[in-house]
Amino acid sequence: MNNSKSYILALDLGTTGNRAIIFDKEGKIVNSAYKELTQYYPEPGWLEHDPREIWQDTCWAMQTALQKAGIAATEVAAIGLTVQRETCLLWDKTTGRPLYNAIVWQDRRTAPMCDRLKQQGHAEDIYQRTGLILDAYFSATKLAWLLEYIQREYPPIDLNHILAGTIDAWILWNLTGGQVHATDDSNASRTLLMNLTTRKWDDKLLEIFGIPPHLLPKIQPSLGLFGYTQPEILGVSIPITAILGDQQASLFAHGCDRPGLLKCTYGTGCFLVAHTGDKIARSHNQLLSTIAWTQTNKAGYAIEGSIFTTGACIQWLRDGIKLITAASDTEMMAQRVTDHNGVYFVPALSGLGAPHWDMTARGAFFGITAGVQREHMVRAVLEAIAFQVKEVVEAINQDSDTNINMLKVDGGACQNNFLMQLQADVLGIPVERPVILDASAQGAAFAAGLAIGFWPDYTTLTASREVDRIFHPDEGATQAQANYKKWQKAVERAKHWTE
Ligand code: G3P
Repeated sequence: MNNSKSYILALDLGTTGNRAIIFDKEGKIVNSAYKELTQYYPEPGWLEHDPREIWQDTCWAMQTALQKAGIAATEVAAIGLTVQRETCLLWDKTTGRPLYNAIVWQDRRTAPMCDRLKQQGHAEDIYQRTGLILDAYFSATKLAWLLEYIQREYPPIDLNHILAGTIDAWILWNLTGGQVHATDDSNASRTLLMNLTTRKWDDKLLEIFGIPPHLLPKIQPSLGLFGYTQPEILGVSIPITAILGDQQASLFAHGCDRPGLLKCTYGTGCFLVAHTGDKIARSHNQLLSTIAWTQTNKAGYAIEGSIFTTGACIQWLRDGIKLITAASDTEMMAQRVTDHNGVYFVPALSGLGAPHWDMTARGAFFGITAGVQREHMVRAVLEAIAFQVKEVVEAINQDSDTNINMLKVDGGACQNNFLMQLQADVLGIPVERPVILDASAQGAAFAAGLAIGFWPDYTTLTASREVDRIFHPDEGATQAQANYKKWQKAVERAKHWTE
C-alpha cells in the first residue's frame, strides 16, 4: 500500500443526518462534517427521505471534512460506507433520477400488506429463510409498494431501466458514477429478500413480494473492494473497501466478534446486537437473526433487538411538540425534578419493534395529573428509552445460557449522563461508554482499512479504543426497576391501538 495515504474516510449515512469522518493511522478522528437530513411525513405513520439530498449531503460532507482537516483526497487510502438499513428506493439507471422518495425503515404504510401475507400463512416460512419478522420495518414490502406506485403513476414503465436498492447501493452507484450496483451481506440481510443461509436473493421470497430479481444489487462481502469513486467527485479515484449496515458497523467497532458481548447504539432507535459466531442463532423471544459482517467466504451472524423510537422521541420533543430547544436540554431538565411524578411514556411513535412487534401500537403518556410539569414529561421520555433497552436485554438473556454482564454503548444520546446512569440502574449491570461515540463510522473506517491492510489486525485495532466512563448501578437501581414494571403495564395499554 502507498505510504503517502494516511487516512480512511468513513461515510455514516443515518436516519437523522449524513456524516463524513476522517480517521488517521491511530484510529483517531481528524475531522468531520455533518448535515441533518430533512424528514418528510406525508401521512401519519409514513416517513420519507429525498435520495438526492442524501447524495448531495454525502458529497458536501466528504469535501467539507477534507477541507476542514487540510487533507488532500490523494491522502485517503480508502472509503468505508455505513448506512441506515432497510430504507430503500427505485431509480432510473439512465437518468440517475429516483422515481419516488426513499421509504424509510420507520415507515408503516405497508403494515396492511404484512397483515395480508401473515393471513396467507407466509410468516413462519419467511422467518426461517430470513431470520426476520414479517414487518413493515424491512425493505421488501416497501419495494413492493414502490413498484406498484411507479407502474400506476408512470405507465407503461420499462422495468429494465430501473434499479432498486437500500441507501448503500444508491450511494455506491453514485460514488462510482453509475458503474457499480452492489450491496453487502449485512444490508442485504435486512431486506426480507435474502436467504440467511445461502446469502443470496431467495427466489421464493422474490416471488412472494413480487420483486423482479434483475432490479436488485449484487450481494458482496462487507469487507472487500466494491469499486472506485468517480474522479470528478473528489478529484481522484478512491477505493470503497467496506460497506456495512450502521448497526453491524458499530458492532464491528466495539470488537464484538464473538458470542457473549452486547452493544447498544442510541440513534434514531436503539439497536442491541450480539455476535453469534459462524452459526445462525434463533431467538425464542422475537429477536432477529441477521448477518454481522462477511469477508470473502467467512460469514459472521448476529442476533438483534431493534427498538424503533428512542432518539426520535427526543427529536419529537424538540421539533414536534417543542418541549425542548436542543437534545442536550433533556439531561438538565430531567435532573431538575426528583422523579417523574407518576408519568410514563410509551414511545410507540412508529409502532413497537422488539420484543413486541406491534405495528398498531401508538405513543402515549400515562399518569398525567395537574402537578405534572414539562420536566416530568421529559424525564419520562428518557426513562422510556432505558426501559425499552431493558426489555431487549431481558429477551437476550432468556435466549442464552449466560446473562449479559455489561452493556457497551455508543451513539449521540450516550452523552447524556443522566440517561446512562439510569440505564445502568434499570439494567443492574455496568454500562461502558467509549470516547468515540460515532461507533458506526468508526466501524466502517476500521473495516475499510483492514480490508486493504491499512491496519494489520482487528483485535489489536478494536482493543486500542479508549473507554470514557463506566456507569455502575447505584442507589437509584431499586426504584428504577420498580418503575420499569409499571411502565410495562403502560406499554400493554398502548398496544393494538390502530387495529
Ligand atoms: O435499522 C435501522 C437503523 O439502521 C437506523 O439506524 O442510526 O439511522 O438510527 P440510525
